[in-house]
Amino acid sequence: MILQTVQTISNRLPKGSSAWINFGLSHLSKTWSVNRIKAKVIRIQDESPDVKSFYLEPNGLWKGFLPGQHVNLSLKINGRFQTRTFSFSSHPKEKLIRITIKKIPGGLVTNHIHTLSKIGDIWELGEATGDFLLTKTIETEKYLFISGGSGITPILSQLKELSKKNSSSQITLLYFSKSEKDILFKHELNILTHTLQNLKVIHFLSEEKNPMYNFGIFEESILKYHVPDFKEHSTFFCGPEPLKKIVFGLYEKENLLNKILSEDFGLFNQKTEEVAELQKVKLLFRAREEEIGSANILESLLDKGVSLQHGCKSGICNTCACMKAKGRVKNLITGKISDDSREKIKLCVSVAMTEIHLEV
Ligand SMILES: Cc1cc2nc3c(=O)[nH]c(=O)nc-3n(C[C@H](O)[C@H](O)[C@H](O)COP(=O)(O)OP(=O)(O)OC[C@H]3O[C@@H](n4cnc5c(N)ncnc54)[C@H](O)[C@@H]3O)c2cc1C
Ligand code: FES
Repeated sequence: MILQTVQTISNRLPKGSSAWINFGLSHLSKTWSVNRIKAKVIRIQDESPDVKSFYLEPNGLWKGFLPGQHVNLSLKINGRFQTRTFSFSSHPKEKLIRITIKKIPGGLVTNHIHTLSKIGDIWELGEATGDFLLTKTIETEKYLFISGGSGITPILSQLKELSKKNSSSQITLLYFSKSEKDILFKHELNILTHTLQNLKVIHFLSEEKNPMYNFGIFEESILKYHVPDFKEHSTFFCGPEPLKKIVFGLYEKENLLNKILSEDFGLFNQKTEEVAELQKVKLLFRAREEEIGSANILESLLDKGVSLQHGCKSGICNTCACMKAKGRVKNLITGKISDDSREKIKLCVSVAMTEIHLEV
């Protein structure tokens, strides 16, 4: 009630007043804010040696999410806000939202979260976004989910949705893990096989021979054996890049790329482009100018202390997209060159070829 009143008043005040109001509100409750989605860590759960789940209670600005979507999470590390993207592993109707985070070797944010985060911490969230969504014909569709490692997170949320909707569809999950201790949500998946009458969960281990599970990595014969009519299924993929390559190779061969939807967790070890000299970047709305080299524009500007909105840093989430008013840039993923014209570009996967002007 107090917060709603303050939010209404704040909407009528001049721009810029919200920072002061937020500062005042944060003394009453750490998650209160008139314009920022903040969430409190309520519970932390170990899922495997390098994966933890975080149960979050967001403030009233949170608008919810759809199964399969993800969110940008920001927290301050060494005085600088860092933003990374994570999928929801809970169902939208559950009281707390849950994200499940794998610790990446050498990864700044995931290691920080695993080592230092504790109950009561406050994280900042963006709005839920993403198109990794179930088809509308939940009742009649046949579903095949193929997942590896932490790629199970959005898929678990989708399976929960199918269960909530009492789907009678034929559903198969092929889930690839390294070893038994790396299998995530074993218990929850087990429960789902009871609530979803036609769900088959088939586990595979790639690095441990265990009589309880299948051994091996994804291959055509596995798919044809377990899901002989896979061509009739809507297929959802989320998993590591090497697994994706094999799965998509097969779908391409079978001319089935229109039947498969995937969620990418990121393009890693991103390439840089050889550029002969440093290039000027003018930030038009900030009347600021920087010089950058061959790394992507986002990373280069962040290194210079320029604060810019970003999420996945992989060209997926679109958070860093902004208008280029002038200059040539190259997209490191597609290789496409944007010439001197006005065009929206994703800073995290673009490198400057000439002086550029950005509307930020
Ligand atoms: C749409 C989307 C949804 C995602 N959902 C989840 C999720 O539910 N759970 C989850 O654990 N992760 C998820 N991720 C991946 C997650 O965002 C990254 O693991 C995280 O950003 C790594 O941050 P970091 O600061 O620890 O690593 P950084 O310090 O940013 O990177 C360190 C090094 O690790 C490499 N790297 C970064 N991410 C990965 C990765 N995922 N796998 C392998 N190497 C990587 C980088 O290239 C770099 O070399 C998702 C990513 C996207 C784009
Ligand atoms: S940060 Fe996600 S597209 Fe650039």
